[in-house]
Amino acid sequence: MAQRKRPEELRSHLSFGVKDLRSFSHRSRALQMGYTREDFAGKPVIAILSTWSDLNPCHAHFKQRVEEVKRGVWQAGGFPVELPAHSVSETYLKPSSMMYRNFLAMEAEEFLRAHPVDGAVLMGGCDKTTPGLLMGAISMGLPMIYMPAGPMLRGNWHGQPLGSGSDTWKYWAELRAGTITESEWQEVEEGIARSFGHCMTMGTASTMTSVAETLGFTLPGAASIPAADANHPRMAENSGRRIVDMVWEDLKPSDILSAQSFDNAITAIHALSGSTNAIIHLTAIAGRAGIALSPERFDELARTTPVLANVRPAGTQYLMEDFYYAGGLRALLAELGDKLHLDALTVNGRTLGENIADAKIYNDDVIRPRSKPLSETGGLAVLRGNLAPNGAIIKPTAAEPHLLKHTGRAVVFSDYNDLAARIDDEALEVDENSVLVLKNAGPLGGPGMPEWGQLPIPKKLLRKGVRDMVRISDARMSGTSYGTCVLHVAPESYIGGPLAFVQDGDLIELDVDARKLELKVSAAELAERRAKWKEPEPRYTRGYGALFARHITQADKGCDFDFLHGGAPTPDPEIH
Ligand code: FES
Repeated sequence: MAQRKRPEELRSHLSFGVKDLRSFSHRSRALQMGYTREDFAGKPVIAILSTWSDLNPCHAHFKQRVEEVKRGVWQAGGFPVELPAHSVSETYLKPSSMMYRNFLAMEAEEFLRAHPVDGAVLMGGCDKTTPGLLMGAISMGLPMIYMPAGPMLRGNWHGQPLGSGSDTWKYWAELRAGTITESEWQEVEEGIARSFGHCMTMGTASTMTSVAETLGFTLPGAASIPAADANHPRMAENSGRRIVDMVWEDLKPSDILSAQSFDNAITAIHALSGSTNAIIHLTAIAGRAGIALSPERFDELARTTPVLANVRPAGTQYLMEDFYYAGGLRALLAELGDKLHLDALTVNGRTLGENIADAKIYNDDVIRPRSKPLSETGGLAVLRGNLAPNGAIIKPTAAEPHLLKHTGRAVVFSDYNDLAARIDDEALEVDENSVLVLKNAGPLGGPGMPEWGQLPIPKKLLRKGVRDMVRISDARMSGTSYGTCVLHVAPESYIGGPLAFVQDGDLIELDVDARKLELKVSAAELAERRAKWKEPEPRYTRGYGALFARHITQADKGCDFDFLHGGAPTPDPEIH
C-alpha cells in the first residue's frame, strides 16, 4: 500500500512537531528522559499497551517482549512508548476477571486518546485481555496491531501431557473420588504450568487470540506460536515493525472490520470448538464496530461448520503446542477455505486469503481435513425456551452425547455459597438423572458472571463413576472445561429472569438438537412465583462496582457497558 501520510499529518505532530508553548513541554520532557530529537522528530509515536503484571503468569514474558516490539518500531522509523495497562489476570483477579474486561477496554481507549500517539501494539493473551484491548482500540480507531502472548508449553506429569484447566478439573474430581492421592495431586500442581504463556488448551485465551488473528488484527500465524518458541519474539519484533507502516498507510480497524470478518471469526470459533466465552466477547467486540451480532448468527454458522481442531477440551489428546506443529491456525483456516470470506483485509495490508494461501496441515489427526472432522457441525449451540427467553448456550462437543436430550428433576442452589455448602452432602437428594441448577451467577448476580457454570458433580455420584450431568446456570464456564453445561441463561436470575423461579423437583427438558430449554411448569404457576420474588439489594453502592452494576448488559448483548456501544465518535482532546 502506498504511503499516504506526511509527518505533519501525524496525530502526534500537534504535540511534538508544532512551535508552541505546549509542544515545548512535550519535547523538553522527552529530552529529559534522555531521548535525542532524532528519536522522535517527525516519527510515528507507537503506544505499546502491555498487560504485564507480577500477578499475571500468562504474561510473565511481556517485559522482554516489549523490548522486542520496541526493536521493531525503532527499525521501522517509529518512536515506541510503553503504556502499561490492567493485566486482568484470569487466575488471581476476584470476584471475577470478567468484571474487569470492560475496565481494560475503557483504559485502552482512553490511554490511546489522551496520549499523543499515532498507532498501537496491543499485548495481551490471558482470557479477558484480548477482547478488552480490542474493544477499546476499536472504539478509539487508531491503526493497531495485536501481539498475542502465545500458549505456554504442554504440561507434564509422569510422562503424560497435562492441559491447563481441563486437567485441573479432571484430577480435582479424581482426588474427590479418592482415585489419586494428595501427593499425586501436588505433582499435577507442579507439572501443569511449565512456562510463561497463556493456557494451552483451546480455552478462552487460545480461542480469542485465534479470533484476533481471523479478524485480521495479528500478523499471519501469530496466534498459534508457543510463547517460549523463538519464533515468538521474532513475531513481536515484526509486529513492531509493521505498525509503523500501518500508521503511514492510515490502516485503521474500521478498514479491516466488516460483517464478513465477524462471520469469519464465528466460523473459526466453531472449527476450533472454541470457548463458550467467545460468543460474549465477539458480540461485545462487534458492538464496538457498530455491527450487531445475534446469538442466532453463531447457531446458523455452527450448523454448517465442521470442528477441525482436535485440541482439548473438545479433542481428547492434543494441546496448542501440537496444534502449532500441525500447521496452526493458518492451516485450519486454509482447510475451511470457501467457508470463509477470503477477501477480508488484515493488518499486513493483504487479504486473509493471501495470508493463508500456502498454509498446509502437517498432522491431520490434530487438524482434521474436512473429510474427517472431529464433528460434522460446530461446537456451540444456542438454546431458547421459557427458561431462557433471550437465549442460553451449550458446547455439545464437550458434553456426554447421551445427555444432549434429557429431562430431569432440578436440584437448585441459590448461589455459589449454597452450592459449595451442600453439593457433597451425603443427604442431598440427587442422582445422575438430576439437573443441577445454579442461580445468581450472572453478569450482576456473580457479580461479573464468574466461571462457575461447570458445577461440580456431587461426591457420592463421583464415587459411583458419574462424570457428567446436565447443569444449568446464568454463569460462564471456563473454556478449558467440559460437560453438559447450559450457560449464559438470559435474562439472569438476579434481575428476575425465569431461572430465578426454578424450584427443587421441577422438571427441566434439554433438547440440543431442537435447541430447546424448557421448564415444565405452567405459566400460571410461574406467574405466581414471580409475584412472590423480591429484587435483591444492590451489591455495590459506590466505585467501579456501582458503575458496572448500572451499565452492564446481559450475556446475549455481550456484557459491554451500554454507554460504550456505538454512538458518535469521541473527539480528540484539544491541546492547550
Ligand atoms: Fe491466563 Fe488461562 S490463566 S489464559
